[in-house]
Amino acid sequence: MRVVVTPGGRVAGRARVPGDKSIAHRWLLLAATARGRSRLEGLPPSLDVRSTAGCLAALCPSASPALRRWLTDVGDHPQEALDRSARLGGAADPGPALEVEGSGRRGLVEAPHELDCGNSGTTMRLLAGVVASRPIRTVLVGDRSLMTRPMERVATPLRAMGARVTTSGGRPPLVVEGGSLRGIEHRSEVPSAQVKGCVLLAGLDAEGRTEVAEPIPTRDHTERALAALGAPVEVGPGRVAVAPFQHEGFGGRVPGDVSGAAFLIAAAVVTGGELTVEDVGVNPSRTAFLSVLARMGVSVPAAPSRTELGEPVGELRVAPAAGLRGVTVGREELPRVIDEVPVLAALAAHAEGPSRFAGAGELRVKEVDRLAGLAEELRGLGAAADVEGDDLLVGGGGCAGGTARARGDHRLAMALCVAALAARGPSTIEGMEAAAVSFPGFVQALIGLGARMEGS
Ligand code: S3P
Repeated sequence: MRVVVTPGGRVAGRARVPGDKSIAHRWLLLAATARGRSRLEGLPPSLDVRSTAGCLAALCPSASPALRRWLTDVGDHPQEALDRSARLGGAADPGPALEVEGSGRRGLVEAPHELDCGNSGTTMRLLAGVVASRPIRTVLVGDRSLMTRPMERVATPLRAMGARVTTSGGRPPLVVEGGSLRGIEHRSEVPSAQVKGCVLLAGLDAEGRTEVAEPIPTRDHTERALAALGAPVEVGPGRVAVAPFQHEGFGGRVPGDVSGAAFLIAAAVVTGGELTVEDVGVNPSRTAFLSVLARMGVSVPAAPSRTELGEPVGELRVAPAAGLRGVTVGREELPRVIDEVPVLAALAAHAEGPSRFAGAGELRVKEVDRLAGLAEELRGLGAAADVEGDDLLVGGGGCAGGTARARGDHRLAMALCVAALAARGPSTIEGMEAAAVSFPGFVQALIGLGARMEGS
């Protein structure tokens, strides 16, 4: 889909965003491996989350009928859901609830075919941890982008725990032949919530204690959900440990995706609108981008009003800022805003003065090489941007408008849209359909909130 963005609109009002995909993946995996019935509300119809549900339908016979029904419900009428969201002025459609029957981890069976994780690295890496303790062989594959992404980071600890795991030169297919596992102490070289989640999920069914040490803290959704389910989770500075545990069925409503909300907030900031995003996850391990925004001159208070399965939920409100300053994000801080670098870079293009995102090398192995992609495509919109070693530099001072490509990456697509909203002239963004990976209905939501854009 090609979108033509005409500057001059103002993004303002009240909005909701689709459920958080990081949380949804984990709750789905936990629901399918629980003993008994779970009821999940607010699961986003995002393509990545549908990939997790599809894989689980093949692995978990007791949950399969409900998962397949949910996939049909959210997949059959995508246009209807988008139209509904647009009519609600950017309010994400909560979609149907999912009630699944789990038979515990022991209820998992060998899938009769390869499991397609689509574009979702989280699906592949977390699922590897879930199947590693079962006496089954699982072959995990994905789309062209996922087949190029590094998997040794999960294969290595799972082998150390006793599973037989192979990759193809470090990349998928990721083949896991599970069996009895022993607990390990794992120090991850790369700060990664997916690696941590994979090892902790495997540790639930390993002999003894499993500990993960993190060089820099990453999102903590796995440990929060496990603790809320009563698992013996120990969280200390820079480390998390679990011991064997089989959880029961549970209920929860997935909070709105704060990483998706970041794009709407940024759209409001660059267009001078006042915006409130309701019902969004405000877990501190995900809101570090708000302190970057504060340094840029934009204050967005995050006040939790309730908790869902250990996850704080609240609203985010942004008011027009006096001006936007360039910012430096250091290499220590960067992993905590890893998914927000694209949107922060789009904002930085409109700031006064230059910005630097230091030590952003991990962006090269995301859905696409986001480091090169951001610099080149922001330049396509007439902004000043460059890569220096592992750092992304953005010049500031606004952009002229132009043409940019999303390169099949959802966050690149949405960030380019945000940058284009406040350009001096019109822009064309190619490949906007990629946004559906995490934010189906993104363009409709922006239009509902006052952006001037047209898709074809
Ligand atoms: C995620 C972790 C991050 C993030 C991704 C989702 C998760 O990846 O970029 O979008 O849900 O655990 P890494 O763990 O590879 O840093």
